[in-house]
Amino acid sequence: MTHLENLIFETGEISLLTINRPKALNALNRQVIEEMTRTLRDVRDDQTIRVLIVTGAGERAFVAGADIAAMSEMSPIEGLEFSRLGHRLMQDIEDLPIPVIAAVNGFALGGGLELAMACDLIVAGENARFGQPEINLGLIPGFGGTQRLAHRVGQARARQLIMLGEMIDAKTACEWGLVNKVVSSNQLLAETRDLAAKLIAKSGFALRQAKAALRASFTMEEDAGLRFEQSAFGLTFSGADRIEGTKAFVEKREPKWQHR
Ligand code: CAA
Repeated sequence: MTHLENLIFETGEISLLTINRPKALNALNRQVIEEMTRTLRDVRDDQTIRVLIVTGAGERAFVAGADIAAMSEMSPIEGLEFSRLGHRLMQDIEDLPIPVIAAVNGFALGGGLELAMACDLIVAGENARFGQPEINLGLIPGFGGTQRLAHRVGQARARQLIMLGEMIDAKTACEWGLVNKVVSSNQLLAETRDLAAKLIAKSGFALRQAKAALRASFTMEEDAGLRFEQSAFGLTFSGADRIEGTKAFVEKREPKWQHR
């Protein structure tokens, strides 16, 4: 395992990755992003990990955005490189074969909301606040927000958040379909672990195909995405879990997954 200065990584069947820079409200600088990228590589290589939870240290923030102090010093080319680095991180999360859940405590702003949106599911504490406030800094979202937000909440609401730079609370984010569940803030991790346990009870092999096909709806035109789904559906027929799952239904019993 690589040395981590800004992250706490607790490995297990349900692994927990905590961004740990509470003094800067867990803002993402180059070092944090590079550490996350390295950790995700370890997660991908570890077949025993079934679900990854991403959260922020402390009570106040999940992630309050990309690091503004660092960005204030960047040249145009460094700004471009920083955006590329952030985009690669978000894609690495989306490309993980296992489900990833964001457990959002406090602020998820700018790069923080972009990070949450790269995850499969978002659980929010009631104190969570969401927004893309980059416009107030003379910037725009740079880690995927202009694309992923509209995909999740539609153009009207994406324009509202990105062009006005306003924040919404957890209840509104849930009504908009941006988050899956709002829970009491002191139960956030417990509730997120419960959700992770439900995912672990599914076929890991089928989840992997589902995740890849869902991602295709974001990266592909509809026709190509529908064709991708056909291939992914077909692939599940090569796995032991499809035989077990369909047989268990016919035999009126619970399936015993082999996750392959
Ligand atoms: N980058 C760097 N430092 C940050 C930060 C950020 N995004 N957000 C907060 N901090 C730091 C503050 O500078 C402050 O540090 P000091 O104690 O050393 O002064 C500390 O965290 C606590 O923050 P505040 O005192 O501001 O706390 P608050 O409770 O008064 O306000 C807040 C909280 C509303 C979240 C406010 O901190 C804020 O507006 N933060 C910036 C949010 C933002 O604009 N995010 C988007 C960044 S741009 C981006 O993300 C681009 C992209 O897409 C790639």
